[in-house]
Amino acid sequence: MNLPVRMRRLRENAAVRKLFQETSVSLGNIVQPYFIVPEKGAKREAGKKGSGLWQVSPDMLLEEVQTLARAGVGGIMLFGVPPFKHDTPEKLPEQLAPLTQAIALLKKGAPAAPVFSDVCLCSYTTHGHCGIVKDGTILNDESVDALSKQAVELARAGVDFVCPSDMMDGRIGAMRKALDGAGFSRVGIVSYAVKMASAFYAPFRSAADSAPQFGDRTTYQMPAHNRREARREWKLDEAEGADVLLFKPALTNLDLIRDCREQSDLPITAYQVSGEYAMLRAAADAGLLDFERAMMEQLVSIKRAGADFIVSYHGRAMAGL
Ligand code: PBG
Repeated sequence: MNLPVRMRRLRENAAVRKLFQETSVSLGNIVQPYFIVPEKGAKREAGKKGSGLWQVSPDMLLEEVQTLARAGVGGIMLFGVPPFKHDTPEKLPEQLAPLTQAIALLKKGAPAAPVFSDVCLCSYTTHGHCGIVKDGTILNDESVDALSKQAVELARAGVDFVCPSDMMDGRIGAMRKALDGAGFSRVGIVSYAVKMASAFYAPFRSAADSAPQFGDRTTYQMPAHNRREARREWKLDEAEGADVLLFKPALTNLDLIRDCREQSDLPITAYQVSGEYAMLRAAADAGLLDFERAMMEQLVSIKRAGADFIVSYHGRAMAGL
């Protein structure tokens, strides 16, 4: 055949393929989540072995994170599991105690790993919704107030980035103002800008004990069907002062990540969520595919879509844990 272009020339052998590789993922691009439980000596996987959802008490966290930091992890994302649930913000400091303790320990003992912390109300309240509830309705502005207070508490403990995952309107601007007003202008905001009302969060909700006790999250999380609405969401958060835009789940939103990459110069991150991880684990356990290869292919695809870093439960394994 007389072909002017032969694509296979660039795939001839491993060295050539490596030279022309456009995208790579390393541990430095990964932020590893942990669920901080109010106990002592706890370090276990929530649910089934292999769930990837690690519940760790503050006293057990440092050694774990030091290993990850030495291996070059991009960062650590902490979710609090409170000692008790309460539906109004006045007990927040006590509810946040395990989390704030964990943040302070990490900042002192593992300074090489930036610490991100979730900001939300779902695991702290009896109803399991991400905001303040009155008469069965999730109130927006009252929730924004409570979430801003939570962000300031976490900033006081030394967190590098707060990550509001609640999807209330106006919370990025309000949180920025609250943080700056309390003297924490150095603390960044990773906005869950495009977070879908997704079936893929189910394993997380049992690890964080945060499932809604009535209804669902569709009055605040986004419908997966809407591309223009996603653009409006991240544009608002960008205008309100977000430092980083987060998309979630990752694999079902690659087109939206790409849209954003082409229209915004903000850093982008994607959260490869618990259900995405579980799906691969279940398929691998059933002997249907190779977990490691499938996982790396997904992480590469998320990066190629335009994410600068990825929140993923696979960080531990990449660090050899
Ligand atoms: C809390 C929150 C959720 C996740 C991150 N923050 C669950 C939810 O919105 O119900 C999901 C992460 C995962 O599934 O790994 N608002």
